[in-house]
Amino acid sequence: MSRTCLVTGAASGIGKATAARLAQRGHTVLRADLRDGDIRADLSTPDGRAALVARARELTGGRLDAVVSCAGVAHFDPLTVRVNHFGAVATLDGLRPLLAAGTDPRAVVVGSIDSVHPTDPAIVAAALAGDEEAATAAARAAVDRGEGHLVYSSSKAAIARWVRRAAVTAEWAGAGVPLNAVAPGVVLTPLTRPLLDDPDLRALVERSVPMPLHGHARPEQIAPLIDWLVSPENTLVTGQVVFADGGADATLRGDGVW
Ligand code: NAI
Repeated sequence: MSRTCLVTGAASGIGKATAARLAQRGHTVLRADLRDGDIRADLSTPDGRAALVARARELTGGRLDAVVSCAGVAHFDPLTVRVNHFGAVATLDGLRPLLAAGTDPRAVVVGSIDSVHPTDPAIVAAALAGDEEAATAAARAAVDRGEGHLVYSSSKAAIARWVRRAAVTAEWAGAGVPLNAVAPGVVLTPLTRPLLDDPDLRALVERSVPMPLHGHARPEQIAPLIDWLVSPENTLVTGQVVFADGGADATLRGDGVW
């Protein structure tokens, strides 16, 4: 059955591959991005987030069957927490009423293996409290003390924890809407190219994200998992952070998480 799906970050990388896969399966796909697509919106700002929701409502008549929140950046900068956490939460919360009007509605946000790396507790706490200015200030402080790398991992840890909390609430599970995160390892996209092109940074990435199964991934290897999680076949999986990481999480955290 053809579904109406919205994908953010659809102009590049994992979002682009996911949108292509959903379209290839016969679904109607609304592509949202900063710079291209059916909906152009800057998810780092309240105005851009509101524009995404308003335009989606116009284009769909107020009904969506699937939302994939994929837009993200990996800068050593507070912008990263604005887009990766607050942009994603605004996408999912803002479009939830459209999902509630859809058929077999499902949502996925793209997290990251980086969520298991060290984080800045102040950024994570402020993000989970929904305090964007405090999260931005904490991110700025991390950058200023030379720990800008913590901003990305913190943004991804926060969105993972938000998914765990939100998925089981009346608004999501109670309304019959599975909500999950997919956490990739290293995927070959414009986001990782600068890291992998530099021999020293590449060695660092390989140490911090070991992928014993198949090595670094292509976006097309992530899309099928997202496709299934937002399909009507997914009736029980919710509140999960599903690692699509070639074994990185199992290598890094072993069996200690149980
Ligand atoms: P990408 O750079 O290829 O694509 C990201 C897309 O998000 C771009 O089209 C960009 O224009 C859009 N975007 C960025 N800021 C935006 C904003 N303010 N408003 C609207 N759209 C915006 O990157 P990639 O690798 O496909 O990343 C997609 C998601 O996957 C991100 O959330 C990223 O953190 C996550 N991820 C990527 C991994 C990788 O190794 N490439 C690993 C783990 C997670």
